[in-house]
Amino acid sequence: MFNIAILGCGVVGSGVADILFDKQAELSKRFNQEVKLSKILDIKNMDGTPYAPYLVTEPAEVFDDPSIKLVVVTIGGLDLAADRCFAALRAGKHVVTSNKAVVAAYGRELTKLAYENNVRFLYEASVGGGIPIIRPMNICLSANDIYEIQGILNGTTNYMLTGMYKDKMSFDDILKDAQAKGYAEADPTADVDGFDAARKIAILSSIAYNGFVDFEDVKCIGIRNVIYADHELAATGGFAIKLIAGSKITENGVRISVEPKLVSKSSMLAAVNSVYNAVLVRGSYTGDSLFYGQGAGKLATASAILGDIIEILEAPERQNLPAFVDKTATIVKDSQEKERFYVRVKAEFKETESEELKACINSVFGKDAVYLGYALSDNSTAAFITDYCSEAELNNKCNELSNCSYVDAVTYTMRVAE
Ligand code: HSE
Repeated sequence: MFNIAILGCGVVGSGVADILFDKQAELSKRFNQEVKLSKILDIKNMDGTPYAPYLVTEPAEVFDDPSIKLVVVTIGGLDLAADRCFAALRAGKHVVTSNKAVVAAYGRELTKLAYENNVRFLYEASVGGGIPIIRPMNICLSANDIYEIQGILNGTTNYMLTGMYKDKMSFDDILKDAQAKGYAEADPTADVDGFDAARKIAILSSIAYNGFVDFEDVKCIGIRNVIYADHELAATGGFAIKLIAGSKITENGVRISVEPKLVSKSSMLAAVNSVYNAVLVRGSYTGDSLFYGQGAGKLATASAILGDIIEILEAPERQNLPAFVDKTATIVKDSQEKERFYVRVKAEFKETESEELKACINSVFGKDAVYLGYALSDNSTAAFITDYCSEAELNNKCNELSNCSYVDAVTYTMRVAE
């Protein structure tokens, strides 16, 4: 008998219960033992729901029940969810969670504790919802040296950036729209400032580069300062704007950030719109592989949890520990790498002065800077793409450009993704 308990019966937890109800007979047959939902630990009243018969309110009813072999932790937040994961592993139960905050903060301790207790700790659902990405990186791609990951890992901000461009909306209006549709929370900070995506890229990077990456080391720039005119001007140059959670191996360590970037329209990531997520993984043998799908949602995320449950049913004992448990990645804080940047300037539009502005940009940034012109939506916003330069060079040149009589101010810069 393989009894399963769910801790936290919210959106994702109830999705796991629904799939277990659906698949109980099939799983029991496949694994030649009875596989079933046994208990749900929650403090909510669930009278009248299909979950009510399973409800327990005391943690001991799960942790002290020897028939429960696996605990699904779908509690939100950090401390309580982490405590429950530790307690379940100490009690000798496998743990599967979708909670990225727990995985980002305590992933290596929990992985080690699971190993010591001869059980497993899996978290496919913590990154990219229903998209298989952690198992492919751990297994299918693991012969490769993975040298770069570029992800659209937050559905809320991807919905907002897509909608801002499509419907010519301001940040405030598209945020209200995302909140009304239930994508963005009342306090949208974790999504719009990039912290949600930072945890996800830290989790993926720890696996990819065989060294623990602390999410607090991820440089985070959210999308609050992106305006409609940026989309319009970027499109003129053949780019879309995406919040990219990216990391790559450099000579000096791992560069990692979450920031809005210009992505070429010919890139696979440029076509990822609305709430969808995607992860581009660059491997030494595979080249580019793209994983695409629903990054959130009840059944998509629950599906990833079921994948972990099935992996545990197939292989209940892990034979080795991932490298990130004992090794920490070196993070590059100040990169000297030469990149291209999008630069937005405030400059009152005067027909006669447009050529002068362009000449001024090229005199400061060189002949290869690409002038994108003025936004049609805003007669005081113009932009260009720089030639390759370091961030320090960019800042110096932006200061120089601000002294040009045709430029009121440099108002925003974004990197161009390569
Ligand atoms: N807030 C997250 C998102 C949910 O918008 O992608 C899934 O982690």
